[in-house]
Amino acid sequence: MNAPAMPGLSLKAPDFVKHPRLIAWVADMAALCKPAAIHWCDGSQEEYQSLCQQLVDAGTFTRLNPAKRPNSFLACSDPSDVARVEDRTYICSALKENAGPTNNWMEPSEMRATLGPLFDGCMAGRTMYVVPFSMGPLGSHIAHIGIEISDSAYVAVNQRIMTRMGRAVYDVLGVDGAFVPCMHTVGAPLAAGQADVKWPCNKTKYIVHFPETREIWSYGSGYGGNALLGKKCFALRIASTMGRADSQGPSGSPGWLAEHMLILGVTNPQGKKYHVAAAFPSACGKTNFSMLVPPQGFEGWKVTTIGDDIAWIKPHADGRMYAINPEAGYFGVAPGTNYHTNPNCMASLGHDVIFTNVALTDDGDVWWEGMEKDTGTTPDHLIDWQGKDWTPQIARETGAKAAHPNSRFTVAAGNNPALDEAWDDAAGVPIDAFIFGGRRSTTVPLVTEARNWVEGVYMAATMGSETTAAAVGQQGVVRRDPFAMLPFTGYNVSDYFQHWLDMGSKLSASGAKLPAIYCVNWFRKGADGKFVWPGYGENMRVLKWMIDRLEGKTKGQETGFGISPAYSEITWDGLDFTPAQFATVTSLDKADWKQEIALHTELFGQLAYHLPHELSATKAQLERRLAA
Ligand code: OXD
Ligand code: MN
Repeated sequence: MNAPAMPGLSLKAPDFVKHPRLIAWVADMAALCKPAAIHWCDGSQEEYQSLCQQLVDAGTFTRLNPAKRPNSFLACSDPSDVARVEDRTYICSALKENAGPTNNWMEPSEMRATLGPLFDGCMAGRTMYVVPFSMGPLGSHIAHIGIEISDSAYVAVNQRIMTRMGRAVYDVLGVDGAFVPCMHTVGAPLAAGQADVKWPCNKTKYIVHFPETREIWSYGSGYGGNALLGKKCFALRIASTMGRADSQGPSGSPGWLAEHMLILGVTNPQGKKYHVAAAFPSACGKTNFSMLVPPQGFEGWKVTTIGDDIAWIKPHADGRMYAINPEAGYFGVAPGTNYHTNPNCMASLGHDVIFTNVALTDDGDVWWEGMEKDTGTTPDHLIDWQGKDWTPQIARETGAKAAHPNSRFTVAAGNNPALDEAWDDAAGVPIDAFIFGGRRSTTVPLVTEARNWVEGVYMAATMGSETTAAAVGQQGVVRRDPFAMLPFTGYNVSDYFQHWLDMGSKLSASGAKLPAIYCVNWFRKGADGKFVWPGYGENMRVLKWMIDRLEGKTKGQETGFGISPAYSEITWDGLDFTPAQFATVTSLDKADWKQEIALHTELFGQLAYHLPHELSATKAQLERRLAA
């Protein structure tokens, strides 16, 4: 395009940007969006401080009491902009069947025609930030680069925490390196003299991906995954298509995987270390699991965090699958986080944190539901996430939450006391086991091991979970969430299953030992409606059983669904958990499973186009076993 930008707008790129195609793209986007200024982010600490101060001056940020939370801020969003908007999220592949039945789709030229007028002049009166970032350790062969253009300083400072952001990215890019262009606007142009609001956004929202041209366009939201485009948009939706595309080239490469998975290291008292990648739907405790503190009875065991949300996984020449965390920080759910559920996370949040939509205490600190479990008290007065007075009495009378259920903290991985020493290793860590877990009050047992790769893929593909506040929509209803990737797969989900199956068969054909696959459910409830399994640190008991299985120390027992532990195979030191309680969280109820299988059948009916036949065959075997 290269159309002229706003009169008086300097398009000159700083000397550290040496990439003509990137400079031309920024000029084109400036011509389209018509910002008042362009700021090329360099990622320095001075820049971060000055943007944070600018956000304080604009009223978007409240600086927290430096004696309590040094260098930390609270942002409160517009009440209409609090979570990912899945119904406004599109995969615009050329063919509808390549987006598949689980994604919203629009023909690419029609979407471009829709977005064009929306982006035209969308940044008027605002600064356009050019944010260079690497997903993954700079220069790693698994990493990729993105450039986000955004009119939100909030996005720029969050991206500095969540990604490797700054000048060094331009050094890796050189003069012609590949990057994913990520366009973002809050969709709130300012007329001359118009005063800004604290959280600009637009009622109209579009979160759009063009997988063939590897572009992201996001309009109207400033919140989380809608706006921090390295995360769900790039690291999951676009990256999943990139990983599969690599498997379809002439090189014979098996490709790679972009997954909604935490990565942790677990070291036993003898010093032997394993690596596990675990997929759970949003707001089901991935951050907690990735920072798990082993409970009483597990002295000498250590769990360390590589990542808490996303894993990029690539086979190496030795046939093993290596994972990196493409992110550099955590954008975690605050409510429910406390010293019991996640002590390492609480220790991470002491300084240099951006909080969004939690409550403000009278002494300038933050608070959210769940913190009362640490202190034994609830504050007498708070300013809630919507800026209103909040007291325990108001909460009792109106049900008002002080913090929004999807309120978040943004914090650098470097703040985590349990950070794994290899978290930034460009080679990644070798994965020994995959875990897939949903939030299910009934039906799915505490832990089951798949007998083989195909059965594991089946378990992951048919996973169901009760929905949470991480996405706009009804909460607590069970929906199928294959691989915890339902809102994040950038292509047809049946082709995604096939990619997993193909990767398994290619690697085992080369003689590699594939990672074991486990299915877990921490969320079974008893007849009283209460959770039965204590969860959090106690999940170490399940992790240890998995490691015992990897080491061939336990046999487990065959069930209709897979291999599960006998009560005697779990280490119970330090926990009073009876065989009857264990039966409640592990039982397979025939009637429940009949219903469950009917839901698998319904899912497979919806995904019939390209559904791998191995999965239908596995379902038939499962039905036979459960009926036996
Ligand atoms: C997240 C999510 O923010 O999954 O990680 O919604
Ligand atoms: Mn997530």
